Amino acid sequence: MILVTGATGHLGKAVIDHLLTKVEPSRIAAFARDQSKAASLKDKGIDVRIGNFDDVASLESAMKGIHKVLLISSNDHGQLLEQHKNVIHAAKKAQVSQLVYTGTAVQDAEGSPLKAMLEAHEHTEDYIKQSSLPYTILRNTMYADTLPLFLGDKVFESGIYLPVGDGKVPFALRREMGEAAANVLLQSNHENKTYVLTGNELNTFDQIATILSELSGKTVGYISPDLNAFKEMLRAAGNPEFGISTIAGFISDMREGRYNLQSDNFEMLLGRKPMSLKNSLKEIYSI
Ligand SMILES: NC(=O)c1ccc[n+]([C@@H]2O[C@H](COP(=O)([O-])OP(=O)(O)OC[C@H]3O[C@@H](n4cnc5c(N)ncnc54)[C@H](OP(=O)(O)O)[C@@H]3O)[C@@H](O)[C@H]2O)c1
Repeated sequence: MILVTGATGHLGKAVIDHLLTKVEPSRIAAFARDQSKAASLKDKGIDVRIGNFDDVASLESAMKGIHKVLLISSNDHGQLLEQHKNVIHAAKKAQVSQLVYTGTAVQDAEGSPLKAMLEAHEHTEDYIKQSSLPYTILRNTMYADTLPLFLGDKVFESGIYLPVGDGKVPFALRREMGEAAANVLLQSNHENKTYVLTGNELNTFDQIATILSELSGKTVGYISPDLNAFKEMLRAAGNPEFGISTIAGFISDMREGRYNLQSDNFEMLLGRKPMSLKNSLKEIYSI
């Protein structure tokens, strides 16, 4: 029996979709905090276990009869490490045979404006290793699916206006990340390994603009403004300070090369080459 946390989120759904192509729904349990969001999983015959990362008792109850756990990192940035520790403790108590964790593929956490969040991922990895549970760590690069959030609604009319400079990112499709995680859960030779999951191409935003131009038949340009001017623009548009500093943190990490990593681990776990960024964008924008 496999328990997937974050099962009502994007990555969790992608993992479960792939698991369902290989195993009966009765072998899958979904940890969710919102019953109504988990209704479609229940309809598929998946055992929905309601709880919260902050609620230790709910985690311990959810781990009953579970052999493998996929801990999809929480999106609650301030509480990340404590919440992850709660899951790890519960998994240890239940003596699960494997704990798989999806973290992040970023280098130089120390220099990042998002240092606190990135270090919480690093400390989670350390904590998992210290737990002596058999583990697999998946360091996921930035999802290609997040590109529309950075590029905005009018990218095909106004072009890309983002202070990433010449920063390169090996974007990967979240659907394929989910498939890779499902494969790790279903296969038996990934214990005590750490994999870095990156797309096969390192792209600048100038190259992304070129790809979007080719796909749409429109001219999509790329302007990389000053970061402070960009933040002022977000402020003037009424965005909250926390949102501005978070998005500016991701942009700085991309610009300063913290995502500039390459590995063939993703291809190995998929058993084929990951989708090109061009085809990923075609799928994301339905063009
Ligand atoms: N690599 C990247 O580009 C990238 C981008 C975004 C996020 N991430 C990280 O990757 C993770 C998965 O990505 P995603 O796109 O699937 O994110 P997502 O759609 O926001 O899913 C996060 C999941 O975590 C659940 N969750 C949050 N707090 C919880 C709590 N206290 N107790 C129980 N469940 C809780 C959410 O439940 P609800 O459905 O009830 O909200 C949701 O199911 C994120 O959480 C984040 O850490 C990575």
